[in-house]
Amino acid sequence: MIIAIDGPAASGKGTLAKRLADHLGFACLDTGLLYRAVARDLARAGFRLEDIWAAVAAARTLHPQELEDPDLRGTAAGDAASIVARIPEVRAALLAYQRDFSRRPPGAVLDGRDIGTAVCPHADVKIFVTAAPEVRAQRRFAEFQARGAGVAYETVLSDIIARDARDSGRANAPMAVAADAMLLDTSNLSIEAAFDAAVGLITRKTGR
Ligand code: CDP
Repeated sequence: MIIAIDGPAASGKGTLAKRLADHLGFACLDTGLLYRAVARDLARAGFRLEDIWAAVAAARTLHPQELEDPDLRGTAAGDAASIVARIPEVRAALLAYQRDFSRRPPGAVLDGRDIGTAVCPHADVKIFVTAAPEVRAQRRFAEFQARGAGVAYETVLSDIIARDARDSGRANAPMAVAADAMLLDTSNLSIEAAFDAAVGLITRKTGR
């Protein structure tokens, strides 16, 4: 079974995907980390984010095992990720890994921007997680504060708004709600309540 969780920046889809995967005993892939890691590898090799062919080379040589890097979670990494994520050849280079992952038995949860529309159009369940930009910024700001990262709330909010515009405005696999996706607005939901609501949606769709 494949569960696709998409949504804008800091919508809580990562936390939700992990909770659902634990609950169902499924594998879980945060696909945003792949794009974040491509941008990191590119910078480490001394290239600019706009260097298309260096970005494609970084995507082709990415080791998806090397995603446990705290630096990948920062705001600069998210911004850099959305720049390399516009490059069609970068997306193509990351596609096979994501599709292979989605077929892991007994099931997989993948979260990102284009899982329900491009990576796994035949996913059994598609959930598009949203929340008001101010709510998302507040949650991400609290996350950064807990990690001791000194970023202002206003910076987090403007980054989120700019990144959403870039992600939904790009030509290739833009962030979009799949026609058969179920919407989950978590603006007024705790993590626990969002999890319960998502489990309800999955049960309604699959009977599990
Ligand atoms: O955690 P957050 O929602 O802030 O971001 P993320 O899911 O880690 O994604 C970082 C960036 O990678 C996004 O802004 C997108 O540009 C890109 N991305 C993408 O293009 N396609 C995906 N399936 C996942 C992420």
